[in-house]
Amino acid sequence: MQNKDTALFTSTFEQEVYEGLTAFPKYLSSKYFYDAIGDKLFQDIMAMPEYYLTNCEFDILETHKEEIVSLFVHNESPFSLFELGAGDGRKTKILLQHLVDQDADFDYRPIDISHNALELLAKSLKKEIPEVIIHPLQGTYFETLRNIGETNGRRKVVLFLGSNIGNLLHPMAIEFLGNLKDSIDEKDLIFMGFDQKKNPQTILDAYNDKTGITEAFNKNILDRINKEMGGNFNTDQFLHWEVYDPQSGTAKSYLVSKKDQIVEIEALGLKVHFKTWETIHTEISQKYDDDVVEWLAKKSGLKIVTSFSDPEENYKNYVFKKNSP
Ligand code: AVI
Repeated sequence: MQNKDTALFTSTFEQEVYEGLTAFPKYLSSKYFYDAIGDKLFQDIMAMPEYYLTNCEFDILETHKEEIVSLFVHNESPFSLFELGAGDGRKTKILLQHLVDQDADFDYRPIDISHNALELLAKSLKKEIPEVIIHPLQGTYFETLRNIGETNGRRKVVLFLGSNIGNLLHPMAIEFLGNLKDSIDEKDLIFMGFDQKKNPQTILDAYNDKTGITEAFNKNILDRINKEMGGNFNTDQFLHWEVYDPQSGTAKSYLVSKKDQIVEIEALGLKVHFKTWETIHTEISQKYDDDVVEWLAKKSGLKIVTSFSDPEENYKNYVFKKNSP
């Protein structure tokens, strides 16, 4: 096996694949699910009846748009509406349309790691709500968060929808929220979606659909390694496996090797041995309750202003402010 110190990586993706597949137990980061195919698969997931998160948040935004938008507009001073991980913006368009209807003085600054997703979003927005002034920003959240601090002196409202925060373990979520807090001022707001703890079966079904879309999404990371690094993963030789711990609220995705096999990854000069039933951990999707969100906010120097939920309380959107001493 190649010595880590001598390996030459041409991207962070390569480096992290090397680190994750030579570690014990093996892991890969879910941020690498998303290329053009992964983006499309995630859109298909959001349209699945089992993936209740999207409909719940849609419902919350539709039902409470007036109250939410009036919080954003505040005393009518102009603001920039940032969105982290904007995706296709389907839900955000509810708020954007309502802001336009209210004649609000704002611009929209979606941030996404996927250039492809941003382009599609800008195009569809131009067609559907041409009144919105849009400034797309491509990059990772952490990098781009720093840019948030350097804007035009306008008030900031930061959207982070879809329970994307749930793809971070608590310590990372606290670091993330802390960074976010450092990039906003006292008068700014954060509006964030947190999927809630619920019947464990509902959660398992959302991440283990019978049609196999989530399986394809999970395996897309192996397809990407094959395409982009000359790997020879046979994805049929891996199982998609989901577990949910109702105590911690953590859903975890794995790829499980169905047989003893060796996979070669040419660009990394790496041969990876999998024992039968050996796992690659690929994703966490954390579920929350009010106490945990309050704890996360406190740990990161934020305070909860208010929250909105669907009637069953399956999902909640919280509004945060900086907790100034
Ligand atoms: C993007 N993220 C919040 C999704 C989730 O629910 O963790 C990604 C996803 N993974 C499987 N299905 C959806």
